[in-house]
Amino acid sequence: MTEASPLARYAVIGNPIAHSRSPQIHALFSQQTGKPLSYERLLAPIDGFADAVAAFVAEGGQGLNVTVPFKLDAYALAAGHLSTRARLAGAVNTLTWRDGAWHGCNTDGVGLVSDLLRLGVHLSDVAVLLVGAGGAARGVLQPLAQAGCAHIHIVNRTAAKALELADAWRASGVSPQTQVTAGGLSDAARPGGWNVVINATASGLQDAAPDLPAGLYADGAAAYDMMYGARPTAFMKQAEADGAALTADGLGMLVGQAAESFFIWHGVRPDPAPVLAALREALAAGH
Ligand code: ATR
Repeated sequence: MTEASPLARYAVIGNPIAHSRSPQIHALFSQQTGKPLSYERLLAPIDGFADAVAAFVAEGGQGLNVTVPFKLDAYALAAGHLSTRARLAGAVNTLTWRDGAWHGCNTDGVGLVSDLLRLGVHLSDVAVLLVGAGGAARGVLQPLAQAGCAHIHIVNRTAAKALELADAWRASGVSPQTQVTAGGLSDAARPGGWNVVINATASGLQDAAPDLPAGLYADGAAAYDMMYGARPTAFMKQAEADGAALTADGLGMLVGQAAESFFIWHGVRPDPAPVLAALREALAAGH
């Protein structure tokens, strides 16, 4: 007979999952806050998300981080218990088992906003260019609007998708004080430039930057890539050449979303700074 684990069980679920840094992040948060827990990687078959989650809960699992390609499956699974954030993002990255049901939230956008603020980027009353119109872009609209951005212009390689996203956002009626407009990549220019430009496209997967016009950055503007790597991304290099005063990759967003999930599960907000430093060091060392 095996004894039940005394530790609360959490995991990150995805496919592939071997690359995930979430176990390391949550282990460091656990040390920092003194909340003991177990956190593992779960590889689910592409068509086997619901079964894998059911098996996890049967073994005492209490919470899951959800990554590619299952954020929509997680949304469907928690359909009866979605946070406003999850509803507006249209996707779930944090599942919590409570009172016999899965509750879904999305912490990606909170992670982005907290990292921008950590970097000293002002979001109140600023003009933001959001590049991309997939799930990553959709997930950050509400947190950016709630942080007080005056204008968010969504541009995408397929312009129709950006227009659709902006229409859906306006129809939601959330944060009407934030002006949300849209267009194609060639419509990205703004007289005087943007204060913040965020890359939410998957172009970095091909080590490329989106095909944006030059002259996008206002004085003192920041460029943020949701992707991250051991070296500056193609988008960061493009932004620097185009005059961005600050460029950053998405490692801090990754740690920020994890910190918010940790808070949902354990009621304590860990300090992301030392964890981010440890991850940056590991990344630079090729781990
Ligand atoms: P995610 O959920 O991660 O946002 P997605 O829904 O597949 O992923 O969206 C990927 C985004 O990256 C889209 O905005 C896509 O543009 P299209 O809608 O035109 O496909 C964008 N994208 C991917 N590769 C790109 C590239 N090389 N240049 C510019 N945009 C790119």
